[in-house]
Amino acid sequence: HSAGIIGAPFSKGQVRARGVESGPDHIRAAGLVERLLQQGCAVKDYGNLEFEQVSVDEPVGRLKSVRAVGSANQRLSVAMQKVKEGGHTAVMLGGDHSLAIGSIHGHAAALGHLSVVWVDAHADINTPLTSYTGNIHGQPLSYLLHELQSKIPVLPNFSWMKPCLSAGDLVYIGLRDVDPAEHYILRTLGVKMFSMSKVDQLGVAKVMEETCDHLSAKGKKPIHLSFDIDAIDPSITPATGTPVTGGLTYREGLCITEHLSQTGLLSAVDLVEVNPLRGQTQNDIHSTVSTAVDLLLACFGRQREGNHLQDYCLP
Ligand code: ARG
Ligand code: MN
Ligand code: MN
Ligand code: MN
Repeated sequence: HSAGIIGAPFSKGQVRARGVESGPDHIRAAGLVERLLQQGCAVKDYGNLEFEQVSVDEPVGRLKSVRAVGSANQRLSVAMQKVKEGGHTAVMLGGDHSLAIGSIHGHAAALGHLSVVWVDAHADINTPLTSYTGNIHGQPLSYLLHELQSKIPVLPNFSWMKPCLSAGDLVYIGLRDVDPAEHYILRTLGVKMFSMSKVDQLGVAKVMEETCDHLSAKGKKPIHLSFDIDAIDPSITPATGTPVTGGLTYREGLCITEHLSQTGLLSAVDLVEVNPLRGQTQNDIHSTVSTAVDLLLACFGRQREGNHLQDYCLP
């Protein structure tokens, strides 16, 4: 398989300081491309997207930076379609999680259908009206789901965007900070979710088995993995804007990504919310970024038991 990498240095889906826009360059600087090549994966790096500077972007109700988020995601959606049409497994390096709007939209536009595994401490399914922070990184799934279409008001720079995902094709893993309105939505729509409580009860291997069973029950659709680095425990990945204690271990993170890689259905991966400026120390930053890289390598077939190339020959 081959990886098509898009950098999306964008931070206007949230307000918790600057810095998340430098995620893509930090992840590349940690050797992502070189290490993918080393493990026998072809790579095409499409570079970083450039986003429109929206000079006047007044709040719409409580929503912040709507026009900038709409415009950035439109560009990302187009870029994503190009990467998928090039036959790659797409990698979108964020940036904040509002970018899942364009990433999933573009992926769905290219392939027609997909399922989504959302690994996150948060559900990111507030609607513009339920959000009390006004940050769009807490809302992308409400824009994407067919079932919530009637709850989304007309927003500037979002007219390109059409819902493209069904609630039955979505699975969450790692939830532990869900707003009341979000919980109501998840329960009402019957979305499959493995909160941290479920990970504790079942163990991550069983969670992955049930995730795959749930998704394959409706046919084997390509999988879009949207991985928010704050799903992992902040003792390992502290450099992120909205850390929540009690998260996935490093090993659970690798178990999830190794397993999804082995389905052969992984078609795109978002790795978002790495914010180097939120690290207190150099070690915080290093640990966060290198965990992000390890998760991505596992998505492309790296296994902890070891790997060898198909044409390997003993000397
Ligand atoms: N639920 C909160 C909100 O709506 C937090 C969302 C955090 N999202 C994230 N992508 N880190 O703002
Ligand atoms: Mn999150
Ligand atoms: Mn499976
Ligand atoms: Mn998120």
